[in-house]
Amino acid sequence: MPSGALHRIVYMSTAVGVLRAEELDRIYLRAKSGNARAGITGLLLFYEGAFLQMLEGPPAGVMSVAERIRKDRRHSGMITLEARAIEERAFADSPMHFVAARNLLAGEKQAFSDLRQAVNARSHMIGTPAPGADNGLWELISSFNPLRTA
Ligand SMILES: Cc1cc2nc3c(=O)[nH]c(=O)nc-3n(C[C@H](O)[C@H](O)[C@H](O)COP(=O)(O)O)c2cc1C
Repeated sequence: MPSGALHRIVYMSTAVGVLRAEELDRIYLRAKSGNARAGITGLLLFYEGAFLQMLEGPPAGVMSVAERIRKDRRHSGMITLEARAIEERAFADSPMHFVAARNLLAGEKQAFSDLRQAVNARSHMIGTPAPGADNGLWELISSFNPLRTA
């Protein structure tokens, strides 16, 4: 693998129980410090008990952080929406950009719910690839990009 290679993983998962604001803060702080060390950038959204996270960076680092996250008991049912090599980062500037429910705009909440519904519907069908771009995943993710030109 050439040095400088980049990998991206996007997944959705469900919070276990009710996660309080302090617990979400702890997750966010841990994510930020862990990712800064591993050269990982990305986005973490939380809405109605569900997480949507994108991780991007060196392939080995992204895989190992994703494995660690998968084992975290504060959430479950991780479904991968995208896992692939990328040319460049979408969120070059932030080790983990976190947006909690209260900071989501109405349209973003709707897009999150629609995506979650599509993912859940599809995950019951064995052998069907998880939905991605076809269900507004990238539109939703890009709307949080700090580098986006409005
Ligand atoms: C939804 C969710 C997202 C997380 N995102 C990250 C992340 O991006 N980077 C990270 O290092 N840890 C993240 N964590 C925390 C890890 O699961 C784990 O607790 C942390 O890396 C410490 O792992 P360790 O105790 O094995 O060192 C996340 C946890 C949850 C529940």
